Amino acid sequence: RKKYRIAVIPGDGIGQETTPEGLRVLDAAARRFGFDLELVHYDWSCEVYSRTGKMMPDDGLEQLRQSDSVFLGAVGWPGVPDHVSLWGLLIPIRRGFDQYVNLRPCKLLPGATTPLANRGPKDIDFYVVRENTEGEYSSVGGRMFPGTDREFVSQQSILTRIGCDRVMKYAYELAMTRPRRKLTSATKSNGITFTMPYWDERFAEMGKNYPGVTTDQFHIDILCAHFVQHPDWFDVVVGSNLFGDILSDLGPAVAGSIGIAASANINPEKAFPSMFEPVHGSAPDIAGKWIANPIGQIWSGAMMLEHLGEKAAADAIVSGIERMLSEGGPRTRDMGGQAGTVDVGKALAEAVGRA
Ligand code: NAD
Ligand code: IPM
Ligand code: MN
Repeated sequence: RKKYRIAVIPGDGIGQETTPEGLRVLDAAARRFGFDLELVHYDWSCEVYSRTGKMMPDDGLEQLRQSDSVFLGAVGWPGVPDHVSLWGLLIPIRRGFDQYVNLRPCKLLPGATTPLANRGPKDIDFYVVRENTEGEYSSVGGRMFPGTDREFVSQQSILTRIGCDRVMKYAYELAMTRPRRKLTSATKSNGITFTMPYWDERFAEMGKNYPGVTTDQFHIDILCAHFVQHPDWFDVVVGSNLFGDILSDLGPAVAGSIGIAASANINPEKAFPSMFEPVHGSAPDIAGKWIANPIGQIWSGAMMLEHLGEKAAADAIVSGIERMLSEGGPRTRDMGGQAGTVDVGKALAEAVGRA
């Protein structure tokens, strides 16, 4: 019997509410498909920061490294500046474990409603592949001459050849597995004149290895418009760290709700643990009300099982979500229902258990 060690970090806000539901459904899948999950819980959060001054201990990454995967809720809470909390916990894990692919599905689930008129599940079904370790999220820069009238801030965007090539290779390979074999690149080479033309150059270069993949590229501004007006054009979309971040909130919004959006921070070589977390944040506006949608967290759990090699269990979770929604099962307010977080988690655990 296989056993996987999972580091669980619920984090802040609704992460505390959605993570247990993710675990509930993972547990149902483990029972049904015959494997064990050994959970190791970590309380790392803004609350701990306010007592200790640290988002995670100095040896935090070494601790996590002992696990097969990390399952995370959300990080960030009012009172601790976001750049302190996120650069103290989430981003060091992505970088420290070289999780250079952030894979984020955008799919209109059967039974869910989109804000777009006349669109159905076959029109919205694509992946955003976000570069996750460099680009606009760099630590090169700073504030100069603070407090004077010469004060300025700068932050460099860094693209490395290795960094571009490896995420693009992943995106091309993913496109090869899809029936349409189509890959779109998000760029802005008209305005950002050093990094983005380089991005385009590496995209074209990598494409030479994949003659079977149809490619196109759009500047990020019009690409946002196309996500809304022509979501059916997209199959796999690759973008830099910031562009991928933006597109991966927009995509799920057109598919109904940010509350269903899942994300996998992957080190494809499996040299380090990968991390699975919903796309959304800690949602301070609804935290404590137990109305957060746990589907993004649960779907992230499915992505984790797929990464661990438990494909049948992962598929059972995704089809369980689809079945529950199309059969009119409980849904939270963001999807037009009245159910609570726990109601949805329990219904899905039940669906996965009998699938
Ligand atoms: P957010 O995703 O937390 O919330 C945005 C809006 O979406 C809110 O109105 C919220 O109620 C709603 N929402 C989010 N998740 C939902 C769910 N599961 N069900 C129903 N509604 C949901 O984004 P924000 O408000 O910009 O950020 C809040 C905090 O979270 C900040 O500290 C931010 O830095 C952090 N954040 C963390 C992550 C992460 O941990 N990966 C991601 C995004 C934001
Ligand atoms: C996400 C989040 C993070 C990001 C923030 C909270 C730093 O928005 O996971 O999409 O920008 O990567
Ligand atoms: Mn984001």
